[in-house]
Amino acid sequence: MFIPPVIPQRIIPPSREIYAAMGQENITRMFEDFYVELEKSAIRAMFPADMRAAAHKSAAFYIGLFGGPPLYQQRYGNPMMRARHLPFPINQAARDEWLACFERVLRDAPAQYNFPPESLGGFREFLRDFSLWMMNVGE
Ligand code: HEM
Repeated sequence: MFIPPVIPQRIIPPSREIYAAMGQENITRMFEDFYVELEKSAIRAMFPADMRAAAHKSAAFYIGLFGGPPLYQQRYGNPMMRARHLPFPINQAARDEWLACFERVLRDAPAQYNFPPESLGGFREFLRDFSLWMMNVGE
C-alpha cells in the first residue's frame, strides 16, 4: 500500500467564508458541473453510473468544509476520506486527471457560482494537498 508523504492534520482547510458567499445551491451546481467534467475524463470508470447522485454526495461534504452545515457527517457518518478512497486505485495520473477536471470548473467559479475570488488560491492549495493524501498507488 502506497502511503503519500502527507500529514493530513497539517493540511490547511479552505476558507469558511466560502459557504457564506456561495450557499448550498451554488456549491451543489459547482459539483454537478465538476462531475460532468469527471464523466468526460479518463477516470470516469472509477465512478458510479449515476454521476448526479455522486455529485450531490460530494457536494454535501464540501458544504460542511466551506463553513456550512455538516450534511455529509449527518447523512453518511465519519468522512474518513482516505479510507473511503481505498477501493479505487488512485495513482499520480488519476490525481492529475481529477485536479484538471476541478480546474476547469474553478477557472470561472467566481462568475459562475459566486465563489469568492480571494479564497480560490487557498482552495487550490487544499485540493493539491488533500488529493495527494488520497493517493494509494505510487508511481
Ligand atoms: C486524487 C484524486 C481523486 C480521485 C481519483 C477521487 C475519486 C473518487 C471516487 C472514485 C469516488 C467514489 C464515487 C462514488 O462511489 O460515489 C470518490 C468519492 C468522493 N470523493 Fe474523491 N477522489 C479524489 C480526490 C478527492 C478529494 C481531494 C476529495 C476532498 C477534498 C474528495 C472527496 C470525495 C467525496 C466527498 C466523495 C464521496 C464519498 C462517499 O462515497 O461517501 N475526493 N472520489
